[in-house]
Amino acid sequence: MSGPLIGMKVVVSAGPTFEDIDPARFLGNRSSGKMGFAIAAVAAQRGAEVVLVAGPVHLPTPEGVRRVDVRSAAQMHRAVMDALPCDLYIGAAAVADFTPRAPLERKLKKQPGQDVLVLELVRTRDILADVAAHPQRPAQVVGFAAETNDVAAYARSKLERKGLDLICANQVGLPGCGFESDDNALLVIDAHGDRPLGPAPKHVLAAQLLDLIGQRIRGGRT
Ligand code: C5P
Repeated sequence: MSGPLIGMKVVVSAGPTFEDIDPARFLGNRSSGKMGFAIAAVAAQRGAEVVLVAGPVHLPTPEGVRRVDVRSAAQMHRAVMDALPCDLYIGAAAVADFTPRAPLERKLKKQPGQDVLVLELVRTRDILADVAAHPQRPAQVVGFAAETNDVAAYARSKLERKGLDLICANQVGLPGCGFESDDNALLVIDAHGDRPLGPAPKHVLAAQLLDLIGQRIRGGRT
């Protein structure tokens, strides 16, 4: 095996999380997992040891990648922490911010005359922020930010708040890009500035992103 990432361990999270309400229902989101799977595939092609923590998606496992399937945000948190230490963590998953306080053991029934249902949700733990604050922090911690508006400003505040090295922002709702699509357009932001990547197929963006991260690791930039 040869390649620019040889000798490095890369952990990638991808896909949505499903938060169970009862045995029949869950709260989910529209992430397809394609971006994270493309990053994992390219990292493995470049010689890295890759652990891909995947939420519920219908995608084949990229060659040479160790895949850990999870369902909920809590399971994803545990699987990522178990995969540390690593040299590079890329959080490309769309992790639920809230989860039902306690999933019901039996299917929730609507009551006669009931017009409103109130679900009590509690915050999930932020995987990315916990990786960035971990005693065995990877050399590079990279996040994603899907925003509908004020993309760069919101992403930059996430970069700072979560203690990241790099954040890849994308605008939700751009035609032909983002969730469920094969193409994407990113604004890659670090402490020094930002750089647009794409629009391009997700596997092309994955390669360009790993080029940038590889330069940062080799250049010792933090
Ligand atoms: O704050 P927001 O959810 O928009 O941040 C998106 C980034 O944070 C993504 O990289 C996502 O994988 C990560 N995240 C996480 N754990 C959470 C929520 C988001 O790792 N509970």
